[in-house]
Amino acid sequence: MTLLEPQEKVLVEAAFLDSDHGEIGCETCHGGDAESSEKNAAHEGLVTRPSLSDPENACGDCHADIVSSAQMSLHRTLAPFTTILKRHQPE
Ligand code: HEC
Ligand code: HEC
Repeated sequence: MTLLEPQEKVLVEAAFLDSDHGEIGCETCHGGDAESSEKNAAHEGLVTRPSLSDPENACGDCHADIVSSAQMSLHRTLAPFTTILKRHQPE
């Protein structure tokens, strides 16, 4: 996978702004100060990974069922990995 340049990460397709997620505005999920046009001030309190650090707050209002079932999901907890890694541990 090719890594995106920093500016490519923040430029979104115009169509995204009309989508349900696009209409919310970046700061709803990512925090920061949307009123500021100065980078450091705008990024004060920025949440880079909203679905990992606080899914309840970022996604819970609209996807409550998924947020609650994801807490114990094997895709999220990766619980079987411990068992498998232990099985492959040298004696
Ligand atoms: C519905 C919530 C939501 C909205 C609205 C949203 N994002 Fe995101 N953003 C995410 C999620 C989720 C991720 C992936 C990380 C994660 O899983 O938490 C992400 C990742 C990113 C990343 C990559 C962060 C990194 O360090 O890799 C950037 C940059 C970003 N978003 C910018 C934006 C911008 C700019 C906007 C507004 C145009 C925006 N986002 C709107 C939820 C959202
Ligand atoms: C303001 C409400 C709102 C918030 C907050 C929100 N979503 Fe959504 N999301 C929607 C709506 C509406 C849809 C489209 C209808 C549907 O599929 O349920 C959607 C669809 C999705 C889809 C399916 C996308 C597709 O193309 O089918 C995913 C995945 C998703 N949201 C993840 C997230 C994650 C992760 C977060 C938190 C970081 C989040 N959403 C926050 C309203 C929201």
